[in-house]
Amino acid sequence: MRLHNKSLNKSSSQYSPSNLFYNGLIALSSFKHIFPLNVTRLNKNYLFAFVDSHIIHYPTPITFTYAWSFGSLAGICLVIQMISGIFLAMHYTPNIDLAFNSVEYIMRDVPNGWLIRYIHANGASMFFIVVYAHIGRGLYYGSYMEPRELLWCSGVILLLLMMGTAFTGYVLPWGQMSFWGATVITNMVTAIPIAGQPIVQWLWGGYTVGNPTLNRFFSIHFFLPFLIAGVCLIHLALLHKEGSNSPIGSDTGVDDVPFYPYFFAKDVFALSCFLLFFAFFVLYFPNVLNHPDNYIPADPLQTPAHVVPEWYFLPFYAILRSIPHKAGGIIAMGAAILILLVIPFTNTSYIRNTTYRPIFKFFFWLFIADYVILTWVGQQSVRNAFIFVDQVATFYYFFFFVFFNTLYW
Ligand code: HEM
Repeated sequence: MRLHNKSLNKSSSQYSPSNLFYNGLIALSSFKHIFPLNVTRLNKNYLFAFVDSHIIHYPTPITFTYAWSFGSLAGICLVIQMISGIFLAMHYTPNIDLAFNSVEYIMRDVPNGWLIRYIHANGASMFFIVVYAHIGRGLYYGSYMEPRELLWCSGVILLLLMMGTAFTGYVLPWGQMSFWGATVITNMVTAIPIAGQPIVQWLWGGYTVGNPTLNRFFSIHFFLPFLIAGVCLIHLALLHKEGSNSPIGSDTGVDDVPFYPYFFAKDVFALSCFLLFFAFFVLYFPNVLNHPDNYIPADPLQTPAHVVPEWYFLPFYAILRSIPHKAGGIIAMGAAILILLVIPFTNTSYIRNTTYRPIFKFFFWLFIADYVILTWVGQQSVRNAFIFVDQVATFYYFFFFVFFNTLYW
């Protein structure tokens, strides 16, 4: 427990030079041990005290690198998606005869509609880039290890909710990929013996993906981000209960400094760079991450030559296709995500940071390369050579988690 609510001095002159110097001294000499003894909290307001201890004076390891900015960036992505989504919902119509045209109406006739839509569509990709980097940071620096197991697991739940939101959102424009993507993915349920077919019809609200499906997907897509926001609060509560991990990987707290102004400034800089990157896509290449077939209205009588999911689902799609058995593929795909829930409990290393584990380090970077290969192979057509690459990459994906994450190395 690294929160020191009672220990924080609040006054209007808190950031005067002398106070900053005093705070700096306290921080440098580990306010974990010294503060509770000699400082009284002046701020008795619960809300301000909460903000103060969780944002302003949150004890933050001084060694944080920019890899620790991905969490706050993920939070900003969520806010951007929710705000742009609410504006889109003002003009979107969840009806199979009107959905495609309502999106085109947003693009052409709604003032700045094109901007809002491109922000939302590219924002989904940005969100996944940021969260994959966030997970990669957690794997590299061992943030999933004891005592942060539950924090990590809450993150995996966030990832699953994000995937559900992205999937239902992609169906809404009712283009060819929307329709056929929804058909392929929902059909997986039919792999369940006996009950599969009734369940999928219940999901569809009919005998095929149709108007009731679009209606409920819109409703789910609108609702899930609020659930994500709630789980984010749990995620942060669990984080602040144990305190952040650091590049050093030690939990002593001796190098802690207040979050504000040091890491606030660092996160604002990271945010500025991220917004430039985001704007580059929105303003110059708004469709590069989208599939061109989704600009063709959904046609249930015409299957596209290639049904491919969005880029962020490709590694899991590749794992699904690597196993030449419907149920087997689906189980492997589910296991690829759920295995993240297991690694905090199977890990045996006492050293968190991969920098200090040279053998593991090699296999970690091989895993990152493997993930990129899975992304690439997930969009290839099904041919023997690709199937072989796919199967080797899938094998290493699981081997890494089962074998290397369990060893001391
Ligand atoms: C909606 C998505 C998410 C949001 C908004 C979010 C937000 C945050 C924030 C603000 C932090 C603190 C800053 C930082 O350490 O980067 C954090 C830390 C953390 N998150 Fe997430 N997160 C999300 C998803 C995930 C996922 C998918 C995982 C893992 C599967 C995860 C695992 C962690 C861990 C282990 C930490 C502690 C890191 C450390 O102290 O080293 N998070 N998260």
